[in-house]
Amino acid sequence: MTINSQNNISMRKPKIFNNPERFIEGWYWVMPSQNLRIGEVKPVTILGRNLVVYRGQDNRVVICDAYCPHMGAHLAEGRVEGKELRCFFHHWKFNEQGICVEIPCLDEPLPIKLKTWPTDEEYGMIWIWTGETPQHRLPYIPDLAEYEFDVAFGFHFVKNCHPNVVMMNAIDAQHFNTVHQLGLNIVFDKQEYHHNAIIFTNITDPRRDSNFIKLIRAFSKHPITYSICYWYGSTNIVTLGPDFLGFHIMFALRLLAEGKTEGRTIFMMKKRRGILGRLFNKFVLWLAKVVGTNFVKGDSKIFQTIRFDLKTPIKADHSIVQFINHVERQKPLMWGTWQLARVREVEPQENHNKWRDDLTND
Ligand code: FES
Ligand SMILES: [Fe+2]
Repeated sequence: MTINSQNNISMRKPKIFNNPERFIEGWYWVMPSQNLRIGEVKPVTILGRNLVVYRGQDNRVVICDAYCPHMGAHLAEGRVEGKELRCFFHHWKFNEQGICVEIPCLDEPLPIKLKTWPTDEEYGMIWIWTGETPQHRLPYIPDLAEYEFDVAFGFHFVKNCHPNVVMMNAIDAQHFNTVHQLGLNIVFDKQEYHHNAIIFTNITDPRRDSNFIKLIRAFSKHPITYSICYWYGSTNIVTLGPDFLGFHIMFALRLLAEGKTEGRTIFMMKKRRGILGRLFNKFVLWLAKVVGTNFVKGDSKIFQTIRFDLKTPIKADHSIVQFINHVERQKPLMWGTWQLARVREVEPQENHNKWRDDLTND
């Protein structure tokens, strides 16, 4: 933080947050599981890198680089054989670890490896880890790590600004009143779960006269929860409502070219037993989709035209500053190549407290 010429307190310029050429090493969504049947292979471009994803006969998903190490044919033209993938061009075959296991015109395959990436499936979605070894399991809510969830897909969207900026919306306390007219006095408590996950929890009791609160209270007299857990600055899980509902919304985003965002929403509810439990979950997930669609409409204009630059943070922006600082302390990769960003962008551990959270202009 520095004092600028107008005597305002301004923030250090972030190097990673809202940078169209950077993203954090982590888990990112690839495609809904149902879009990839056994034996199918498809091309995908994730964070600027061309990949292929296929599902072997054992139902396991494999993700590898798109171009054959022999002569560069696109492997999505190839064919799945058992757990392996055969290139269309000269029929070289690669196993699920990317190891070349057959070259038809040679007696022995060559010691060649196609780059593969860690992958997993949960919440009805296929995911990729953008580095060598996953540092965590897929994004989850720390307090509910052991639960299973019913899920329903919400929107699939593109926004005209960076995922970090879209993410920030959920902790932008001022805009709940100005854009969404909720009449809430929200103050968040921040807890850094570890260096890739941060949780913001509403610690204030919202005013009770807004329609939104009345709607939630119609379900229950229990306290109202609003908390958000962010992973890699790009995926969050919002927990909403009385806790007994067990209702959550995941916003899974990734960075497109030119600093844009492609995202999916996934509505999640703790699994309930029995036919009534399943029906109840189905009903709430459906209701959430209807209410949610209306709710997020308010933000569309903002994401279409914003050029994010938090020049004048005030106390009400405190959570946003904390979120920016949290993003700055993570491991930045370069969009397109997935190489580690330049060394001077990677904050050494001891410098992490340069990204202090204290503020403000008021
Ligand atoms: S380009 Fe793939 S086998 Fe030749
Ligand atoms: Fe919003």
